Amino acid sequence: MAKFSALLSALVLASVVYATPVVQINESIITVPIAKKIALTGSANFVEAERQRAQKIIAHGKAKAAARAQGLSAAAVVGVPVTNGVVTYTASVGVGSPATQYDLLIDTGSSNTWVGAGKAYVKTSTSVQTKDKVSVTYGSGSFSGTEFTDTVTLASGLVIPGQSIGVASTSTGFSGVDGILGIGPVDLTLDTLSPDTNTPIPTVTDNLFTNGVISSNEIGISFEPTTTSSITNGELTFGGTDSSKFTGSITFAPITGTSPANEFWGINESITYGTSNTAILSSTAGIVDTGTTLILISSDAFSRYQKATGATADRATGLLKLTTANLNKLQNLNFNINGVTFELTPNAQLFPRSLNTQIGGTAGNNYLVVASIGTPTGEGLDFINGYAFLERFYSVFDTANKRVGFATTPFTTATSN
Ligand SMILES: *[C@@H]1O[C@H](CO)[C@@H](O)[C@H](O)[C@H]1NC(C)=O
Ligand SMILES: *[C@@H]1O[C@H](CO)[C@@H](O)[C@H](O)[C@H]1NC(C)=O
Repeated sequence: MAKFSALLSALVLASVVYATPVVQINESIITVPIAKKIALTGSANFVEAERQRAQKIIAHGKAKAAARAQGLSAAAVVGVPVTNGVVTYTASVGVGSPATQYDLLIDTGSSNTWVGAGKAYVKTSTSVQTKDKVSVTYGSGSFSGTEFTDTVTLASGLVIPGQSIGVASTSTGFSGVDGILGIGPVDLTLDTLSPDTNTPIPTVTDNLFTNGVISSNEIGISFEPTTTSSITNGELTFGGTDSSKFTGSITFAPITGTSPANEFWGINESITYGTSNTAILSSTAGIVDTGTTLILISSDAFSRYQKATGATADRATGLLKLTTANLNKLQNLNFNINGVTFELTPNAQLFPRSLNTQIGGTAGNNYLVVASIGTPTGEGLDFINGYAFLERFYSVFDTANKRVGFATTPFTTATSN
């Protein structure tokens, strides 16, 4: 807790902390540093914002599935506002030759890559305008503009010639960043172009794979809880996994067949609590999402979690709160994914206490990172494993094999909150 404080003052002052830029090229594995950004906006109820984002993901996933079922082209809705989280992640991406660097949000919940929200697009000799307009609605934000192809540089010497990018003429909801690096499933780009409505736009990962730069079409993501020992850093690995960032083996789960979770990086999982394995959420579909800060579960599962932990609702923050006595009794929350149990420790269930006052809470209180998604089980998207989960487990997004993987890390059981 105290460990976090020193860093916190730096975060509040600077608002953005950049990870040490280390780029590793390991045979066909490309590793790009991720910068962590903690954007706290006073006492705004970010829990409610997370819930609204989740509800938009559900609604837009359903709209897409319904349109597809009717053979219609859905409006270009992706439903993932990526900017309202407490924690967001950006990578510095070069576009053009010579390249201009843009700070792009890394989003597994959408798949268009675009610039121009902050820094304006700088055309160079490699910029080619296509005949298409491009637009995406993210729920709380949107952008629209023109499609270009251009040289995209993810890391020094690692370039993608002719990558489709959106160049925003208008955008809302993206203050502090220049755009998005969309690394979700390619189908989320359908209907974002006009007139080429039914043409998917290959993502950066797709193109690296097609061009033979990476040998498998997958991404590994490493996040770490913030501690004072080093500046928080994350790592995005294209084409494989970075074995230095996880322990043991990776457990994969197939993309769920359940709609609308299967529009995103959706999987089946069940959740139990403690050594007695009290049922919290029976096996159901949900998604893994870097743009969600908390762990969201269906409202009935949330009630069972609250009862199991003895937590009370905190009006100021919208989070659950534990007395010290109940914190001392807190047990693991067990995520069962394709036959393997990932245990979220009591410490990992705690919201970083040094950030309490930044979300309208009281210093020293014990808030929990598990919140209600806002709808009961049965929506076809009943949980979101967000950043609070991903900072404890390495994640792999495998396009080629339509599956998502997880592994433990040196931080899985760390005491950092
Ligand atoms: C590089 O790749 C090798 C073989 O895949 C692996 O053993 C090693 O850990 C990797 N090194 C880094 C720094 O990722
Ligand atoms: C996920 O759960 C649904 C509903 O129980 C089930 O039909 C499906 O076979 C499960 N697995 C996958 C990969 O979708």
